[in-house]
Amino acid sequence: MSTGRFITVEGIDGAGKSSHLEYLASAIRARGAGVVVTREPGGTPLGEKLRAMALNDPMEGTTEALVMFAARREHLVRVIEPALGRGDWVLSDRFSDATYAYQCGGRGLPASVFETLERLVHPDRQPDATFLFDLDPATAYERQRAQSRDPDRFEREAAEFFRRVRDAYLDRARSSGGRIHVIDASGTLDTVRDRLARAFAKAFA
Ligand code: TMP
Repeated sequence: MSTGRFITVEGIDGAGKSSHLEYLASAIRARGAGVVVTREPGGTPLGEKLRAMALNDPMEGTTEALVMFAARREHLVRVIEPALGRGDWVLSDRFSDATYAYQCGGRGLPASVFETLERLVHPDRQPDATFLFDLDPATAYERQRAQSRDPDRFEREAAEFFRRVRDAYLDRARSSGGRIHVIDASGTLDTVRDRLARAFAKAFA
């Protein structure tokens, strides 16, 4: 019987979620489970090519959603399902909640189109738990700027875009039936990690 769990982390650019992946992976290993750490868009050779396009090449909004879901299908079939089938845990930096937040919230893609694509690509799979790092867009922008690398197509968006993305994430959390755990991502790395540790312990008590 498979005991693998599918965990995702989400948040607007600059919220700091990726800094906590290694901590989460070690918390999973401490339970004696194997863990596959992966990301979206990406996670497979084709998915990484699609990621480069999605982050750099200008494209229309529905095209953008299709590219995200195309990468996701590969990821699901080649990485996520096989790992869960082996009993490993999968820890993914983003999944479909990101498409809901960025493409529906940010770009205005109708929720009905999102739901259709979600049903097509992963009809029987949702994360077991999602940790949403929530931060106000102004602070997230400052954190992102401090990383001093070239911003991608999303990171160059205006504050108003990230306000919509954040609101869409929070709406989805409210209707997720407890799957999405909202973590206050303000404060130091240690403070946020303590909040995450409590949320993780609660999710997998
Ligand atoms: P990352 O910087 O957290 O790796 O995410 C890459 C960017 O892709 C980020 O700006 C969010 C965006 N994105 C979407 O717009 N839709 C999606 O479905 C996913 C997975 C990511």
